[in-house]
Amino acid sequence: MKYFCSLLYFLCSLATLEAQGVAPPPSVTITNNALGPIDFQEQLNTIAFGSCNNQDKDQLMWKPILLNQPDLWVWLGDNIYADTDNMQVMAKMYHKVKSEPDYSKLREQSSIIGIWDDHDYGVNDGDKNYRKKQQSKALMLKFLDVPASDPVWKHEGAYQTYTIGPVGRQVKFILLDGRYFRDELKANPAGTPRYFINETGDMLGEAQWKWLETELRNSTAQIHIIGCGIQFIHDEHAFEKWANFPVARKRLLGMLAQIKPSKAMLISGDRHISEVSKMELPGLDYPLYDFTSSGLTHAYAGNTTEPNRFRVSPLVNQRSFGILRIDWSSATPKITMIARGLDNVEFFKIEF
Ligand SMILES: [Fe+2]
Repeated sequence: MKYFCSLLYFLCSLATLEAQGVAPPPSVTITNNALGPIDFQEQLNTIAFGSCNNQDKDQLMWKPILLNQPDLWVWLGDNIYADTDNMQVMAKMYHKVKSEPDYSKLREQSSIIGIWDDHDYGVNDGDKNYRKKQQSKALMLKFLDVPASDPVWKHEGAYQTYTIGPVGRQVKFILLDGRYFRDELKANPAGTPRYFINETGDMLGEAQWKWLETELRNSTAQIHIIGCGIQFIHDEHAFEKWANFPVARKRLLGMLAQIKPSKAMLISGDRHISEVSKMELPGLDYPLYDFTSSGLTHAYAGNTTEPNRFRVSPLVNQRSFGILRIDWSSATPKITMIARGLDNVEFFKIEF
């Protein structure tokens, strides 16, 4: 039966690609997950996530990830280093990661969801002007085995939401697309910071903002995990961050403070470091955490002193992935944020 479903799913997905005018590259074999990517009824006790996975570097991190037996894996961007507008080249890169034996094991054992950042979008530090964004989106959704029935196939942009778990023990994932609609950043000729702040620019675009508000307001989930490729809270470093768009960052934080979703937290990637930032948001009766996990195949080892007034964890400058362990036994579920690396070494553990 599962093979019949797989075949049906495969054909539907191809039909969706063609309906969007995005034919699969002729010379690339596209494989599909036999069971589909998500078990929507499963109670999530262990979630793992990560970012920055260069397909040409070793893929050793899947072994410790598998050891943690995650119920769900979340890709948080730079899932491949494509940096190209050649869709055949990009498809081959996705195929390489998808063919990795240990990642294949993870696909068999765990649900998989994800969103992109810049390198897998197609251009380093890319924005709304990338001309192949529709085709690139289709390749990412194929890589993730997103079902043809998912609304993400029909709207512009790659933002997605998934509510997973039995009623009363549900986690709602809101994956924000910080690339497809992102306004331009002006490069700083001095190099540091890399860009000037865009005082009026936007990250998400109006359609995505309206969708986000609706998804938060209408949610009955017990936990909300909001993910984006780049960091939400940290506002001091020289690279890409929500803080480069202060109007958008304020709008997001204001929306959370106003709607007050049950137990919300942020997850992010991109930085080749891992850390947890924490802020108190007036109006929210719990601290807002941003758990950054990056990178899977390479790390910013020289980063030992970067200031971050919001950091409440060690600064991890080694290859790593993130884990969220959920304890459902109390009235308000508890989340433990854990950063781990090669050989499953533990870098920190923080309770929320
Ligand atoms: Fe990135």
